[in-house]
Amino acid sequence: MRKEKIDDIDDITSQLTLDEKISLIHASSSFTSGGVPRLGVPELVFSDGPHGVRHEQGRGWFPIDNADDHSTYLPVGICLASTWNKNLANKYGNILGSEAKNRGKHVLLGPGINIIRSPLNGRNFEYFSEDPFLTGKLATEYVKGLQGQGVAACPKHYAVNNQETDRHNIDVRVSLRAIHEIYLPAFRVVVQEGKAWSIMGAYNKVNGQYATHHEYLNNRILKGDWKFDGVVISDWASVKDTKEALLYGTDIEMGTELVRDFNRPVYDEFYLANPAKRYIESGTVDECYVDDKVRRILRLMQRTTALSDHGTGKRNVQEHQEAALEVAREGVVLLKNDGLLPFNKREIKTLAVIGHNASRVFAEGGGSSQVRPPYEITPLEGLKKIVSDFCDVIYAVGYEPYYDKTLFRKLPGEAASQSREYSSKTELARSSNKELLQEAIEIAQKADAVIFVGGWIHGHEGMPWGEGTYDAEARDKMNLKLIFDQEELINKITDVNKNTAVVLMGGSNVEMDNWLPQTRAYLHAWYPGMEGGTAIAETLFGETNPSGKLPVTFANSHEEYPSHCIGQFPGNKTVEYSEDIFVGYRYFDTFKKEVVFPFGYGLSYTTFEFSNLKITQTDNLVLVECSITNTGDRKGAEVVQIYIHHKNPTVKRPTHELKGFQKIHLEPGEPSKVQINLDKSSFKYFHPKQEKWVLEAGTYEIQVGNSSRDIKLVDEIEW
Ligand code: BGC
Repeated sequence: MRKEKIDDIDDITSQLTLDEKISLIHASSSFTSGGVPRLGVPELVFSDGPHGVRHEQGRGWFPIDNADDHSTYLPVGICLASTWNKNLANKYGNILGSEAKNRGKHVLLGPGINIIRSPLNGRNFEYFSEDPFLTGKLATEYVKGLQGQGVAACPKHYAVNNQETDRHNIDVRVSLRAIHEIYLPAFRVVVQEGKAWSIMGAYNKVNGQYATHHEYLNNRILKGDWKFDGVVISDWASVKDTKEALLYGTDIEMGTELVRDFNRPVYDEFYLANPAKRYIESGTVDECYVDDKVRRILRLMQRTTALSDHGTGKRNVQEHQEAALEVAREGVVLLKNDGLLPFNKREIKTLAVIGHNASRVFAEGGGSSQVRPPYEITPLEGLKKIVSDFCDVIYAVGYEPYYDKTLFRKLPGEAASQSREYSSKTELARSSNKELLQEAIEIAQKADAVIFVGGWIHGHEGMPWGEGTYDAEARDKMNLKLIFDQEELINKITDVNKNTAVVLMGGSNVEMDNWLPQTRAYLHAWYPGMEGGTAIAETLFGETNPSGKLPVTFANSHEEYPSHCIGQFPGNKTVEYSEDIFVGYRYFDTFKKEVVFPFGYGLSYTTFEFSNLKITQTDNLVLVECSITNTGDRKGAEVVQIYIHHKNPTVKRPTHELKGFQKIHLEPGEPSKVQINLDKSSFKYFHPKQEKWVLEAGTYEIQVGNSSRDIKLVDEIEW
């Protein structure tokens, strides 16, 4: 295939036959859409996923054995978000772009930027935050970094896609105000500031219409108001109607055979294949709708390696692995520390490491975001690397994962016999875990300090796809209870050894009230990528000073979240978002609800002082300036977070809305000045009747802090 820029998109479009145009707008294999060899138009090549280029499947649906497809496994989306570091997000995207290009991909299916509405969503690990501003700013840098390599980003899933249960059909009932203030802003900035070249439509319906061919979301907002000139790619099997897809903005249809018969894909029968052709030929839909899709596809090809030269990219180079480490170092979040950490390796002769996740690898879990990295450093390996010269490391697995039917929502068509088989397996596993618990207690007694590494998993544990997994596609969690009897284990270990630090992995929090009070230190590590074990070990032993901040609120149980106690989750055929704009900290803080760890929270081994808040207001801008000083004796980093609050609104407004942030790295004693501009639009709310953003006159607080609940400096302005 010649790689040559097509100079005139209109000219090429006019040379294409209807059949050729149709071939461009639907899949030609599992991860390609059609090309037109006659005119030098190649197939478009897609790949998951958001934190690493997925393994090769060729034109089919299963991984190819022995393919040359090892790729860097970066920390997952929520770990990147916890860094609050825009430069790192840019670097992260850039690495993905370079590796995708090196593997011959034109479009990378990421970042995943759906709002984390409930902690139970099985895909939260891929997403960024409960906050649209944080998500949007970081995702925009990711997109810029990625596209800088000539590979199209495909932010997903547009829009209001916040659960996996019944993901293909659930109808989300949500107000226009919540759509605009909570669920769309991140997509808007990746389009307007990030200039994303494609976007992926979601499976769900929004107020009655499928999101992938949604007249309001695609035509009116995305392609209308936001002037998106890229390609709307369906999610894999999210197109459900030919006419709507033709008229309401879907440009490429992918994956439909997934819900038909993926062993016998009939691409010609996709909604945007022969059925679409029939609509055009019969005159029911004008051909100009297809032409618009074709022009967008050709434009994307020109922008990317599909039709322009952007070099060959690099893969699995040290530089990429170091960046994976850098993100993990800044992404793990220290949530509790009564002075136990950092451990001093000279004071520990025997270190006990306990927990299945200490020796488990995660890259290939979770569904479509799986990656095959050349290696993955587990926490146990990371710890051994750092301390083995000084002390003995002893390990006990403590528990093994098992499949507990009661923890999963029933899948349609699940057989009762299957259910009985798994129940007996569960009983067996439980009793063998009792023995593992004893072994763990014994090693904890012998050690000077203990590191417990547990939490969620996202592998398959020998179960059918989608079963026995927690942080994974297609299933949501049932609750936040710590799985595999880990609560008992943590408590028993802490009883016998007070120097115990807990490290948890996972895309969400767990219930904490039964073990956290007795625990002296808790580090949340998400799924920290191929160098995660190194970052965890460095952090526990003080070689890295933690600076991650929670991008979501950690409340004790899922029932306390607004999506559960006010709205619905997961609903039944429809799901009501009655909590409206009060998602995450917007709810917890406004209604003064107790949380365990607030949004934006994370500890450091040093201390910071905020001072000298100065606000300068002009017609369209508010310049927020303050000083921040590292007042401790270690170098470290702090995130200056700016929230706004309208004090006397006529409509409901949250007490905090994040509108600016900056991460600052400081040497011991070093002061620094922070300057953040907020433009007028930061103060607006979406008026559902007028269908536009409105700035209400009144007094607004500008709050500067290092979590939504630790506001250190406040001033007011008037609009
Ligand atoms: C997921 C997408 C993914 C696609 C292709 C879908 O099931 O929802 O996020 O990109 O599959 O693997």
